[in-house]
Amino acid sequence: MTAPQNTAGAFANIRRQFPILDRAVHGKPLTYFDSAATAQKPRTVIDAESRYYETINAGVHRGAHELAAQATLAFEEARRRAARLVGAEGREGCEEIVVTAGATAGFNLLATAIGNASAGAGRPESKRFALRPGDRIVVSQAEHHSVLLPFQELCARTGAELSWLGTDADGSIRSQDADAIITPRTKIVAVTLVSNVTGAVTDLAPIVERAHAVGALVVLDLCQATPHLPVDVHALDVDFACWSAHKMYGPTGVGFLYGRRELLEALPPANFGGSMVELAWLDRPARYMDPPERFEAGTQPLAQVVAAGVASEWLRNISLDAVAEHERAVTQELLRVGDVPGVRILGKSGLDGRIGTVSFDVEGVHPHDVGQFLDAQGIAIRTGHHCAQPIHRRFGLFASNRASVGVYNTVEEARRLIDAVAQVRPYFLGVKA
Ligand SMILES: Cc1ncc(COP(=O)(O)O)c(C=O)c1O
Repeated sequence: MTAPQNTAGAFANIRRQFPILDRAVHGKPLTYFDSAATAQKPRTVIDAESRYYETINAGVHRGAHELAAQATLAFEEARRRAARLVGAEGREGCEEIVVTAGATAGFNLLATAIGNASAGAGRPESKRFALRPGDRIVVSQAEHHSVLLPFQELCARTGAELSWLGTDADGSIRSQDADAIITPRTKIVAVTLVSNVTGAVTDLAPIVERAHAVGALVVLDLCQATPHLPVDVHALDVDFACWSAHKMYGPTGVGFLYGRRELLEALPPANFGGSMVELAWLDRPARYMDPPERFEAGTQPLAQVVAAGVASEWLRNISLDAVAEHERAVTQELLRVGDVPGVRILGKSGLDGRIGTVSFDVEGVHPHDVGQFLDAQGIAIRTGHHCAQPIHRRFGLFASNRASVGVYNTVEEARRLIDAVAQVRPYFLGVKA
């Protein structure tokens, strides 16, 4: 693995790999601070997708011809690269990695499969997942709706109860409450490693320790972690984890679900159809394949999966430590947005225990107005509730402005954003700059 020095030069070169960053918006250079919603794509990822169609396009895992064999190899190589990115390669091959249509699809797959087990589906060993009335699922106040809602629906389906870990004023999940909230009735704990609103990194160890002490499974949301931090799912000791390729410089429509080998083996399927069944009859139940294929019904977005593998390897080659260091420098500058009069950062205002996702409120100005004002200057941020309403309520808001850092952002861009934010209240409210 070649890890370039974390110099401005190395990241200037990385930035040049993103063709979209050469375009202008409203006549101004594009300043893209919306990578937490979706990251831009480097040339190598864009090319990987078209190269797949130009050279090896075919259905995978079936077909006796050369293209099918090459497509299958490329698809499985992508799985291996995704596994490697999160430390899941090696111990069990790559069979702990399931291809999904994204993190949301991964969490829904998991919740549906556990619901199926609760309804009596699957092999005898599937019973270990069965939820009953009175059981508990614990989430956190910081969860994205794509974690909250599948598990809330799973509660409705099984009679389990939802409870949650709160957040501190700095936005971090209250892991100090793990012993009180995670009880012997808890069967699943589903939390994020990094908040998509405050950027806070969760103190996960006490949560995992307590969950496992009471026999609960831990499901981790890695969406905002894989693009920014080194991750090792085995070291984190979680049972399941989901993430999306498009937030880590890969294509849309692809994600991955990590599951501990013995758990995936015991879990019944969630989706049914081709490519996941060994034997199908008219007069008897089907016999399903082993993981990961059991969870990959139908034709996958093959070119995109291959390109997601390329994105995973591209990030690993930069080195996530170097990425974190570069983004820290940009984030340090970006956090100065909190010094602008009338601006409040949601959660941590310092650099520790966070990534470069910074949400803020501009007193007296609606986030959509802030977003449009910045857009007119070529600056792209996200406005709204970022699919995380409970944590916004915790800050007394329904919506906020979010600037999120990616590998291509620079300190100068952070300054441009702050200068623009400083003009918002003077423009809308007539207060002095
Ligand atoms: C923390 C977090 N979890 C889950 C998701 C859902 O990801 P996707 O929309 O790619 O399925 C997102 C996307 O915004 C996110 O930020």
